[in-house]
Formats: sequence, structure tokens, C-alpha cells
Amino acid sequence: MAHPPLTSLNGRVAVVTGGSSGIGAASARMLAEAGATVVVTYNRGEERARALVAALPGSGHLAAHMVLEDTASIRAMAADLQARFGRVDVLVNSAGFTRPIPHHDLETMDEDLFAKILLANVHGPFSVIRSLMPLMQASGDAVVISVSSISGTSGSGSNMAYCAAKAALDTMTLSMARAFGPKVRFLCVAPGAVATDFVAGRGRPELEKAAQATPLKRVVEPEDVAAAVLACATHLRAATGTTIVVDGGRHL
Ligand SMILES: NC(=O)c1ccc[n+]([C@@H]2O[C@H](COP(=O)([O-])OP(=O)(O)OC[C@H]3O[C@@H](n4cnc5c(N)ncnc54)[C@H](OP(=O)(O)O)[C@@H]3O)[C@@H](O)[C@H]2O)c1
Repeated sequence: MAHPPLTSLNGRVAVVTGGSSGIGAASARMLAEAGATVVVTYNRGEERARALVAALPGSGHLAAHMVLEDTASIRAMAADLQARFGRVDVLVNSAGFTRPIPHHDLETMDEDLFAKILLANVHGPFSVIRSLMPLMQASGDAVVISVSSISGTSGSGSNMAYCAAKAALDTMTLSMARAFGPKVRFLCVAPGAVATDFVAGRGRPELEKAAQATPLKRVVEPEDVAAAVLACATHLRAATGTTIVVDGGRHL
């Protein structure tokens, strides 16, 4: 039997890590517009997260502190969501960080920094998925959408550890999809360069210039990525273990 697209996310609970900024914030808005109750996680951006929650359409949304490197904060969030909702239907793993470091610069990219970037960008999402798994099993029709990057397949990006972390996130998605169907689907959305403050020192002129070298010749906005995130939840209901690339054709 086919699973028709969901026309509404009314009654569904969505958790957006990194919802305080950029792609996560745009995803939180679109999920709320579709009817979901949205949990927006933040690290340093409490004010941003609370302002976003207050502006979302619908009711019941909340902001939650969650630090990718701090498993206790992730478990505490899961316990709170268990008590409030008893289920999670959509998890968007958007939280992450990077630092621009030339790939040949092994002085700067030492073992500590390598481990730190892996810890946040792949161990963190693993820990969030692990803690929320009972709530997603309780949903019975859940989806995890991890915001990856074309860096995970091209090996080109802000630094070497970031590329390795996104490759690990992609592969973990394959394993999870195999292990946890049919109750939970796992998808990645992989952007190229997106107009957010994610990469320190990269401004609009750099993004515009890079966009001109892509087939679509336009800067990819956070809302473009959020639209793919929403589609994973509402439309791509027969897909699991796959990656949707949203990069204006930059990978070509
Ligand atoms: N922008 C791009 O060009 C691009 C391209 C490909 C992939 N991506 C991916 O897209 C995702 C979102 O990035 P973005 O562009 O939206 O960047 P962004 O605007 O800088 O947002 C990053 C988000 O991650 C949260 N975060 C950072 N470190 C954290 C930590 N240690 N613990 C918990 N939360 C943390 C931030 O929270 P606070 O602000 O509250 O501290 C913020 O909400 C990332 O996974 C990134 O790898 C981005």
C-alpha cells in the first residue's frame, strides 16, 4: 500500500537541533507552518531560540538547551520530551560547527581539534538519535533528517575533519536506516555552500562568486535546504538511507 504525502504535520512533534540559527531555524519555521509542534535546540543562542519559538505559527513549541559534546544535556532533553510528549515524529540534526583550515595545514589541524570536530558533528548526532530512539519508536512513523554536506563525498570543504565527520554521518545514516525501519526512516540532506554564518569569514560576496561557478548560478539559501528537510518528512515517505543533495549543482 502506498504511503501518500502528508498534507499536514498537525499533532506531530519535531525536534530541530541547531534550530536557533541558519538551516535549523528555517527548518523549524517550515515544520511549524506545516502544523508540527517544534522543539528548537540551542547552544549559545538562547535568545535567538526563544525569539524564534515565540514567532512560530501554532502552539506548544519550545526551546531546549542541548550541547552536542555533552551527553548529559542530550539525555536531559530526551527525558523532558518523554514527559511532555511521549513521542518524537521528526528529528532534524542540523546542529554542527566547523572552522576554516586549509587541508595541508596539519599544524593547526592537530589531533585534539580533529577529535573535537568529529565529536560535535557525528558523535553528537549519534547521541541525539540514541537518546530519542525510544520516543521515535513510540511514534511508529518517525523520520530522522541529518543535515550533512557534499563535503562528505567530495573531501573538499572547510577542513579535513569536517569532511570526515560528514562522511561518517552519511554512512551512519545507511546503518541506522537498515536497523530501524519500518518505524524510523533516516535521510540526509546535503547542501554545498549555504548563506548562513556557518563558516567564519565567508560573506555574501564569496557565496555569490562560488554560485556563479554552479549550474544554477544562485546562492543556496537556508530556506532551500529547509524545503528539502520538509519534503523528507511529508513527501519522501518511501525513502530511507538516501541523501538529497541541495547544492545548485555545485558537485557536478
Ligand atoms: N552553511 C553552509 O554552507 C553549510 C553547508 C553544508 C552543510 N551545512 C550544515 O548545516 C548545518 C547547520 O549549519 P548552518 O549553516 O545553519 O550554521 P549556523 O547558522 O552556524 O547554525 C549552527 C547551529 O548549530 C548549533 N551548534 C553549534 N555548535 C553546537 C554545539 N557544540 N552544541 C549544540 N549546538 C551547536 C548552533 O547553536 P547556537 O547558535 O545556539 O550556539 C546553531 O544553531 C550544519 O550541520 C552544517 O554542517 C552547512
